[in-house]
Amino acid sequence: MSTNPQPKIYIAGHRGMVGSAIVRELLRKGYTNMVYRTHAELDLTNQSAVRQFFETEKPDQVYLAAAKVGGIHANNTYPAEFIYDNLMVQNNVIHQAFLSGVKKLLFLGSSCIYPKRASQPMGEDALLTGQLEPTNEPYAIAKIAGIKMCESYNRQYGSSHGLDYRSVMPTNLYGPGDNYHPENSHVIPALLRRFHEAKVSNAPEVVIWGTGTPRREFLYVDDMADASVFVMNLDKTIYDLLTSPMESHINVGFGSDIAIAELASEVAKVTDYQGRITFDISKPDGAPRKFMDSSKINALGWAAKVNMHEGLVLAYSSFRGGWS
Ligand SMILES: NC(=O)c1ccc[n+]([C@@H]2O[C@H](COP(=O)([O-])OP(=O)(O)OC[C@H]3O[C@@H](n4cnc5c(N)ncnc54)[C@H](OP(=O)(O)O)[C@@H]3O)[C@@H](O)[C@H]2O)c1
Repeated sequence: MSTNPQPKIYIAGHRGMVGSAIVRELLRKGYTNMVYRTHAELDLTNQSAVRQFFETEKPDQVYLAAAKVGGIHANNTYPAEFIYDNLMVQNNVIHQAFLSGVKKLLFLGSSCIYPKRASQPMGEDALLTGQLEPTNEPYAIAKIAGIKMCESYNRQYGSSHGLDYRSVMPTNLYGPGDNYHPENSHVIPALLRRFHEAKVSNAPEVVIWGTGTPRREFLYVDDMADASVFVMNLDKTIYDLLTSPMESHINVGFGSDIAIAELASEVAKVTDYQGRITFDISKPDGAPRKFMDSSKINALGWAAKVNMHEGLVLAYSSFRGGWS
């Protein structure tokens, strides 16, 4: 047996879009000692089942990428499930990880933790400075609680138990494993599906809601996985230089944003759709801009690698390969 075994790494949510990308990234980096459970095998809202799992497996590190996620419709229809499931999953995983001696944990949050009217770009210090977007407030409150839970455990047990629990806040993600549901998907998977279907059916035009002028930021999910492994393994003294005990989360963005009209043209190119793109300006635009300030992670030495065109080509190929 090796005297320097690899850390045993638990990826919670390993079949989801982000969790599966983290598994791919860890394998690429040569990690082989990983442990996972499907939702059917281990319901993370079940405290005693989670306790038993940690007692049996005793992982060294945890990537917490399991969550109940969904679009506006799902968030509005099932707010109780969104707050309950997410709080339970993260409370169980973080607390039982602590009890079983896990020193390193990475919690995946979301840019929706920032106030609806946060100034742009949104820095880490915008957290808890204003009202949240009402449609996904329960989900965002759970995510904020997850960040504060990691921070509180670090503050209470960091020195005594060598605990180092970190949080990353991704911008909008896309890529393999995305949800391509026709009515309930995010911008990029929705556009890929609509342009693909328009091409197949020879539709003369694709109508985009709103003016096409709002700007959004998108990150390819493998870049997010790369950032997650990067942040997990950053030397603590370096991490501590750019964070503080009560503002410990790190934004992970692409670094630039794109107007929806420009994105639609890119998607048309990638799907080889030759028809017209029109805009239905009677439909609402949403916020004019939602852009993360990623200067902290950039200063730590990380930057996104996959550009929009490459990412869309990869996402489209996974969509056609049947990831939906
Ligand atoms: N997608 C994005 O654009 C985006 C952007 C920012 C942040 N994030 C964050 O990244 C994380 C992962 O998101 P994702 O897009 O990868 O979501 P996803 O594809 O839906 O994956 C989530 C995974 O968690 C599992 N899960 C949910 N509830 C569980 C439970 N009670 N017990 C066990 N497993 C459970 C799901 O299993 P089942 O499917 O079987 O329920 C699924 O495999 C989330 O924290 C999310 O906030 C995502």
